[in-house]
Amino acid sequence: MSDHPPGFFQGTEMPAAGWWEALWADPVAVLREVGVQPGMDVIDLCSGDGWFTLQIAKIARRVLAIDIDPDLMDVAKRRLMESGIGNCVFVVGDAYDVARLAGSADFVFMANAFHGVPDRARLAKAVRAALKGNGRFAIVNWHKRPREETPVLGEPRGPKTELRMSPEETIESVMDSGLEFTKIVELPPYHYGAVFKRSPN
Ligand SMILES: C[S@@+](CC[C@H](N)C(=O)[O-])C[C@H]1O[C@@H](n2cnc3c(N)ncnc32)[C@H](O)[C@@H]1O
Repeated sequence: MSDHPPGFFQGTEMPAAGWWEALWADPVAVLREVGVQPGMDVIDLCSGDGWFTLQIAKIARRVLAIDIDPDLMDVAKRRLMESGIGNCVFVVGDAYDVARLAGSADFVFMANAFHGVPDRARLAKAVRAALKGNGRFAIVNWHKRPREETPVLGEPRGPKTELRMSPEETIESVMDSGLEFTKIVELPPYHYGAVFKRSPN
C-alpha cells in the first residue's frame, strides 16, 4: 500500500465509482444539514473526486478544494468543468497545511477522511487557523458500526471497523483546538456530521 502520496491518511482511499454515488445520492441534503449556505467561502478538505465539491460550488460563493492525490484532483476538476462551474480553485496539498494553502473561509467541510488523520488535534488547529471569526467546521464521519453492518449495493463498505469514530470521540479530539462544538446531525444511513464553530480568541 505504498502507492499513496506521503502523508496520505490511513483508510481514506476514494472508492470506485458506483456505490459512493448510491450511498451519497443526495449530497445537497448533507450540505444543508451541516450548514453550508449561499454566499460562503468554503474549503472542501480532502475533496476526493469532487462529488461534494460540485454541489458546494453550486451553493457557495467560492470553493477551495484541497486533496493530496493529484489524480483525484484531476477527476474533480473535470467534473466541475463539465458542469460549467467556475468558482472553485483546486489545490493539491496536505490537509495539515490548510491554513497556509487557503485564505480564510466561512466553512470547512471534511467528509470521509477525519477517521484516518493521525494527529487530529493538529488538524483541528490548522482548520481553526483557516476559519474566519465566526467560521464553522463540519466533519462527516462513518458511525462506529462494524463494517459488515454498513453494506451498500450488497457489500460491506467504508473504513475498517477499528478506524471508525463515535460522535463523542470526534468531539473530544477537536475540543482543545479553539473550536467549540455546535451540533451533531444524523446523515442516514451510516453517517453523522459533527459541527464546530471557531471560538472568538
Ligand atoms: C474517502 S475520500 C473522500 C472524498 C470526499 N471528501 C468525499 O467524501 O466524497 C478521502 C480523500 O482524502 C484524501 N486524503 C488522504 N490523505 C490526505 C491528506 N493528508 N491531505 C489531503 N487529502 C488527503 C484522499 O486522497 C481522498 O481523496
